[in-house]
Amino acid sequence: MKRLVLAGAVVLQASSGLAEYVWPSKYDYIEDVMMLHSGYIHNGFSDAVNPCSFGTNVAGRQNAAEWVRTGYHDMATHDAAAGTGGLDASILFELDRDENVGSAFNNTFGFLSNYYNIRASSSDLLALAVVTATYRCNGPKIPFRAGRIDATEAGPLGVPKPDEDVETHTSRFATAGFNTSDMIAMVACGHTLGGVHGVDFPEITGNSSEAQVSFFEGSSSDSSADFDNAVVTQYLDNATENPLVAGGNDTTNSDKRVFGVDGNTTMHALADPATFQSTCADILERMINAVPSSVTLSEVIDPIDIKPYMTTFALNSNGTIDFVGRIRVRVSDGTNRNTNDLAVHLTYADRDGTNTTTTITATHPSFQGGTSSGLFRENFSWYEFATVLDPSTGISKFHVHITTPSTGAAQVFDNAGNGFPLDDSILYQQSQSCLDPTIVDGNMNLTVSAFVRNDRIDEVVTLNLVHKVPRQGVIMPALEVHSQVFDKTSTEKSGYVLFQAKRLLPSETWNTAFDVVLGEGDNETIVENQSTSAISDNICS
Ligand code: HEM
Ligand SMILES: *[C@@H]1O[C@H](CO)[C@@H](O)[C@H](O)[C@H]1NC(C)=O
Ligand SMILES: *[C@@H]1O[C@H](CO)[C@@H](O)[C@H](O)[C@H]1NC(C)=O
Ligand SMILES: *[C@@H]1O[C@H](CO)[C@@H](O)[C@H](O)[C@H]1NC(C)=O
Ligand SMILES: *[C@@H]1O[C@H](CO)[C@@H](O)[C@H](O)[C@H]1NC(C)=O
Ligand SMILES: *[C@@H]1O[C@H](CO)[C@@H](O)[C@H](O)[C@H]1NC(C)=O
Ligand SMILES: *[C@@H]1O[C@H](CO)[C@@H](O)[C@H](O)[C@H]1NC(C)=O
Ligand SMILES: *[C@@H]1O[C@H](CO)[C@@H](O)[C@H](O)[C@H]1NC(C)=O
Ligand SMILES: *[C@@H]1O[C@H](CO)[C@@H](O)[C@H](O)[C@H]1NC(C)=O
Ligand SMILES: *[C@@H]1O[C@H](CO)[C@@H](O)[C@H](O)[C@H]1NC(C)=O
Ligand SMILES: *[C@@H]1O[C@H](CO)[C@@H](O)[C@H](O)[C@H]1NC(C)=O
Ligand SMILES: *[C@@H]1O[C@H](CO)[C@@H](O)[C@H](O)[C@H]1NC(C)=O
Ligand SMILES: *[C@@H]1O[C@H](CO)[C@@H](O)[C@H](O)[C@H]1NC(C)=O
Repeated sequence: MKRLVLAGAVVLQASSGLAEYVWPSKYDYIEDVMMLHSGYIHNGFSDAVNPCSFGTNVAGRQNAAEWVRTGYHDMATHDAAAGTGGLDASILFELDRDENVGSAFNNTFGFLSNYYNIRASSSDLLALAVVTATYRCNGPKIPFRAGRIDATEAGPLGVPKPDEDVETHTSRFATAGFNTSDMIAMVACGHTLGGVHGVDFPEITGNSSEAQVSFFEGSSSDSSADFDNAVVTQYLDNATENPLVAGGNDTTNSDKRVFGVDGNTTMHALADPATFQSTCADILERMINAVPSSVTLSEVIDPIDIKPYMTTFALNSNGTIDFVGRIRVRVSDGTNRNTNDLAVHLTYADRDGTNTTTTITATHPSFQGGTSSGLFRENFSWYEFATVLDPSTGISKFHVHITTPSTGAAQVFDNAGNGFPLDDSILYQQSQSCLDPTIVDGNMNLTVSAFVRNDRIDEVVTLNLVHKVPRQGVIMPALEVHSQVFDKTSTEKSGYVLFQAKRLLPSETWNTAFDVVLGEGDNETIVENQSTSAISDNICS
């Protein structure tokens, strides 16, 4: 199966072993969410937890704490032996339970919904949120794997509550696959952020104020909100104001019971700052990777070294192929690359696989320094190209050349030996596609156009469109893929024939993604992840 990618990415990477990255990959989108927080091209995934204490200017709220608590509550009812539950976003269906008190959960998913789509499940985004919040709060680097599948209904009850006894808590953690010292560590690592809110637990805080009673002393300044072991050391020093240790009513002092259940052995170990950081990295990684046995997680997602992005790959009005895109080059420390001393160009092979002699220069944009950065402070530099290709000879793959002008050193990147593949047998025509803004009976008219090369016009062309289906009481919509076959038109150009798919789109789903697929099975060519919002301003003729 060949896949080609516009405005993004996707597909199967070798599923086992530490395989070298091959473009495109089905994890390209989530890698973007991870690695492009800010800069020239950015998605802002860490904005809500930057700084660590940030709470969207709502009293008593700390987004980073809410994200970590949401991750735990979702995972808490995992049954390791049965292989059920875990980090699967089932908590979306469980918010009416008294074990899930508070607005933290909807707040968290409300933010994550901006990134949610067919390439990124709610549960993967939640796991990534735990990783991102922890790191942003100066906590450890937690390796992130993708592949979680969202539950479609509520799971069993059983998230620990503060008025339960420690045997109940120990047994709940054990069912989820965590022994006593794991439990102590996970609670301490979680309760290094945030605190107890009067609106949620007035019986613990003594009043129902919005304010938060912190798990550790020194509440409002940014540095004390950091991911450190104050919650541990203040407990061991008998100096804690943690409302789940020093609360006036012992019944709800669950942290006191949990922290002390092994005679303080684990807490003494966690009093060493380095041990605290490494233990938290391990236990929070295991927390987010506690998934149903039906889920296979990916390899750890590392920053991709050289990543191309296609912006336009389409027939233009002159009858040539616009070939426009960007190359993202990792320039973090250790790559020995300096943004100010790098030049990038492409070469490509024609449709038959023969190298052409053309050199396509990619230029470094100056806006925002032409760089982006993301999780773990990874840095990337951008290079943009725009050229036209002859449709009679086409393209099959390209190579990325990186040179260092000051030394003349040159390197060729060939995508693990394959070249970066492009299949010109189908060209999605964004400029001839449109979403009519008129709404009739809750629907809008959508037209999607694509040119299919003459030698493949007898194969089926399919539109796979994601519908966002609202669910009562659940903040994330369901995603349903609707397929429809394109019609062949009589329009011909440059050895291609125009195909169109027209359909009604429910207006609540106006901003969604679709793929255009030519052929079936081994012959499939996919133009992935096109966006209806990108064609909502086009005029439908
Ligand atoms: C015996 C197990 C646990 C109990 C009984 C418990 C109980 C609580 C309670 C009562 C709150 C206050 C919530 C509110 O006022 O909105 C809280 C907050 C919190 N919990 Fe836990 N917790 C447990 C384990 C964990 C674990 C394992 C984690 C994560 C690894 C975690 C992370 C958090 C965080 C980050 C907050 C602060 C939320 C905020 O400030 O918005 N908890 N917990
Ligand atoms: C899908 O397209 C959207 C908008 O065009 C873009 O932000 C996103 O990165 C793309 N995702 C993938 C998987 O390419
Ligand atoms: C709990 O599990 C951890 C991780 O598997 C292990 O290192 C530790 O020794 C165990 N602790 C106890 C008390 O069994
Ligand atoms: C309610 O509790 C909060 C947090 O402990 C505290 O800051 C506030 O002064 C209390 N308000 C009243 C009226 O007691
Ligand atoms: C554990 O530490 C707490 C807090 O310092 C203390 O109150 C408790 O007595 C300790 N438990 C043991 C068994 O030492
Ligand atoms: C804390 O209190 C416990 C029990 O009263 C005592 O054993 C321990 O030594 C105290 N720790 C400190 C640091 O004062
Ligand atoms: C302590 O908390 C428990 C559980 O919330 C409650 O049932 C009990 O009445 C409280 N005790 C006092 C003295 O307030
Ligand atoms: C068409 O070709 C002309 C002449 O080379 C050029 O000026 C124009 O920009 C081209 N238009 C497109 C859409 O590529
Ligand atoms: C990214 O760049 C910043 C600013 O130059 C630098 O402080 C940071 O160490 C870099 N990150 C990595 C991972 O190299
Ligand atoms: C085609 O060009 C690429 C990039 O320069 C090069 O690595 C490759 O060896 C060339 N292939 C042939 C058959 O010359
Ligand atoms: C969609 O187009 C059809 C045919 O042109 C028209 O009858 C219908 O009213 C349109 N529907 C909407 C929602 O615009
Ligand atoms: C969460 O959001 C859903 C959907 O908007 C809403 O129906 C539900 O009442 C909210 N739950 C809470 C606890 O805020
Ligand atoms: C793929 O294309 C080849 C060559 O046109 C054809 O023989 C084969 O049947 C096609 N396979 C499928 C699954 O359509």
